Amino acid sequence: MEQTLILIKPDGVKKHLIGEIIKRFESNGLDIRAIKLVRINRSQAEGFYQVHKEQPFFEELVQFMTSGPIIACVLEGERAITRVRQIMGTTDPKKAEKGTIRNEFADSIRYNIIHGSDSKASADYEIPNFFNRLEIIGIQAG
Ligand code: CMP
Repeated sequence: MEQTLILIKPDGVKKHLIGEIIKRFESNGLDIRAIKLVRINRSQAEGFYQVHKEQPFFEELVQFMTSGPIIACVLEGERAITRVRQIMGTTDPKKAEKGTIRNEFADSIRYNIIHGSDSKASADYEIPNFFNRLEIIGIQAG
């Protein structure tokens, strides 16, 4: 079993796509282990995206991610990281496969609706940015 973090970005929330996006993951058999609506501040956004801090788009990315509420969600399943990335589509919506979330709903590489962890190491770093251990609900026995 693998866990991954998704964020529905401010553009996805503004477009009322929360239900549509969550439905796609649930329909695929992924389990929600934690979920919240949250507005992050500049230092939280900078910390979350610190791997991109040298990129020319970093400042715009931070401004965008702090511009409105986002959904943070931990999804769990076999190969969850890969499955989530297939359902999202590639970062650049112009290159995203038909039927993926970014292909159908995203305006541009900057306003691309959703984020998903790209590796186990990223998921391990990203999840605690939004949830402590007690907020991630395990499968109940019995
Ligand atoms: P995300 O999966 O959240 O990870 C980093 C984000 O940076 C990415 O999605 C894009 O929204 C953004 N990004 C990546 N490349 C570019 C780019 N060339 N121009 C603007 N934004 C970018």
